[in-house]
Amino acid sequence: MADPAPSRSVDSFSLHSTGQDSAIQVSEAAEQPVPVPADSQDHAAPQEPDNQPDYVSDSGFDSGSLLGDETDTLASSIMHYRMENGRQYHAYRDGAYWGPNDELAKEILDFAHHMYLLTLDHKLHLAPIKNPQRILDVGTGTGIWAIDMAADQYPSATVIGTDLSPIQPEWVPPNCMFEIDDVTLDWTFPPDHFDFIHIRELFGCVPDWDFFFEEAYNHTKPGGWIEIVEHSVQPTSDDGSQGPDHFFHLWGQTVIEMGQKFGKSFTIWNEAKERMEKAGFVDVTEITYKWPMNGWPEDKKLKNIGRWNQLRLHEGIEGFMIRLLTQVGGWSVPRAQVFLAEMRRELRNYKVHAYLPGTVVYGRKPLRSS
Ligand SMILES: C[S@@+](CC[C@H](N)C(=O)[O-])C[C@H]1O[C@@H](n2cnc3c(N)ncnc32)[C@H](O)[C@@H]1O
Repeated sequence: MADPAPSRSVDSFSLHSTGQDSAIQVSEAAEQPVPVPADSQDHAAPQEPDNQPDYVSDSGFDSGSLLGDETDTLASSIMHYRMENGRQYHAYRDGAYWGPNDELAKEILDFAHHMYLLTLDHKLHLAPIKNPQRILDVGTGTGIWAIDMAADQYPSATVIGTDLSPIQPEWVPPNCMFEIDDVTLDWTFPPDHFDFIHIRELFGCVPDWDFFFEEAYNHTKPGGWIEIVEHSVQPTSDDGSQGPDHFFHLWGQTVIEMGQKFGKSFTIWNEAKERMEKAGFVDVTEITYKWPMNGWPEDKKLKNIGRWNQLRLHEGIEGFMIRLLTQVGGWSVPRAQVFLAEMRRELRNYKVHAYLPGTVVYGRKPLRSS
């Protein structure tokens, strides 16, 4: 993993202005907002097998950044992160997103990026885009995908990443930029604008996916593409080794229930194709993948992905679930921690051949809209 980038100065962000406020409010946190990012933490990552291609991610934070258009001055309150149960959360649209934005959370996102590269055989996308000029990464997180797209794949394109959190590195390729924006509100980009719109892991983030895909459609150029990459939160097995009473069922049901209570579902992974077609996209293609819960598979590629997933989940589930369980579900912190500990225990069980199913769905906006 690359060293964490220095925290970004307030001046180096763009902020899309919106008049609405759709954030779901969580109750007051046990701790008050603080303006400083948390310290980084070290984690031992699984070693790659020798025969893996030498993919070098360019998320190494090594060049200049640009400001986007239509900016407002970024209020310093956006940097006044909220602290809750020892984790740091975004401040803009306070309460809108379930995950922390501290150094550990950023590292977990970058683990997932690595797993997607392994899953997609080191491709950053599957949509058959050609010579794109304008690319949008919605809910970009650390910006790692946007940076890799800008630096490695499409140096002549402009890549914009949007997010609620200003957690992207300061030093990025000159054709990559980041904006603070709430994707659940009306999109302020020009219509028919992007050659490619990319969405990854916005599960539990979007209250109205039909509205989301309509906006994505309106802002895709005729002939342009959209791709969404998501996975289930409900582990399953093909060989019955995950019995009906296994803890993984309770885990999955609990996440789904928390998403329903939160008003932002976790089931988009198997709804995306239908919803994209409904919005008007054509040639919609769904590719499925599996993320094993640990290194149980014999297949080398799946075993490697599983080992990464085990680490990602072991270190990441507190961030994935503690806000949902305590703020949305009303659980006490000790009850939530017992639940998380049970999950960590089961992640070490190689007898259960469980995996998280996922999908990559891409589609094209027709040259002529009907
Ligand atoms: C699970 S992370 C995925 C990050 C990134 N797409 C990736 O795959 O590495 C979800 C991201 O969506 C962002 N997010 C959540 N709700 C959002 C919203 N309403 N508008 C913009 N970004 C949002 C979060 O801040 C977080 O960075």
